[in-house]
Amino acid sequence: MRGEKLFLQFLRKVVLGGSLTVRGWLFRIAVHLMGGSLGPGARIYKGGMIIMMAREASIRIGRNLAIRRNGMINTATPKARIEIGDNIWLGESAMVTSGCRIDIEDDVIIGPHTVVCDVDHVVGSDGMPTRELAGRPIRICQGAWIAANCNIVKGVTIGKGAIIGGGSVVTKDIPAYSTAVGVPARVIRRREDKDSHLEENRRDSLPDGQRD
Ligand SMILES: CC(C)(COP(=O)(O)OP(=O)(O)OC[C@H]1O[C@@H](n2cnc3c(N)ncnc32)[C@H](O)[C@@H]1OP(=O)(O)O)[C@@H](O)C(=O)NCCC(=O)NCCS
Repeated sequence: MRGEKLFLQFLRKVVLGGSLTVRGWLFRIAVHLMGGSLGPGARIYKGGMIIMMAREASIRIGRNLAIRRNGMINTATPKARIEIGDNIWLGESAMVTSGCRIDIEDDVIIGPHTVVCDVDHVVGSDGMPTRELAGRPIRICQGAWIAANCNIVKGVTIGKGAIIGGGSVVTKDIPAYSTAVGVPARVIRRREDKDSHLEENRRDSLPDGQRD
């Protein structure tokens, strides 16, 4: 009886209530059991979820994923493919839902309440939306920041280092190193392409004797 009570307390406090590490490990095991993968260092806050609707679907996630409260990554159809890199931040109640294919590269930040969804409900011959889903792939490139309350719809690519302002709806591709805002999102700023300076910066950061 006492043992049972202690076990329930452990479940409530450590597994469900408290420990991010334990929840991370439980999700790692669950995702692996479903045939997907979740790298080490995952921090899944209370209510955070990774859901694979069907065994045929696929979710592969790299290291150091953080899912804040009630955030969710899920596959909506057996055809869905979700490929997520390292160091991804998914804000409170944000959702990544795939019925087609979603690729999120390393170091992407997705703000609270943002929805990334690559499918729409198909409209039937009677003009009414049906339960059937169809879509086009979404790609979010390395280091992009999508702020709070955004909607990223099917078929778009958000370029490397791009910033999407709060409350935006992204319906077209957004170029790398640009800032886009509004409904629909329009580019308001372009930053310099930092890639061309990377090698220069790397050399500058080396001690004197090691520069070539
Ligand atoms: C886009 C953002 C990053 C600021 O970018 P910025 O380059 O500094 O832009 P500015 O503040 O100079 O604004 C430039 C113009 O865009 C408009 N603008 C800025 N953010 C906007 C937004 N989210 N939606 C619509 N218009 C916006 C400004 O009103 C301004 O318009 P104007 O030139 O007609 O006056 C910021 O406004 C934003 O949306 N932050 C999101 C905050 C958030 O969601 N945080 C949660 C953490 S994940």
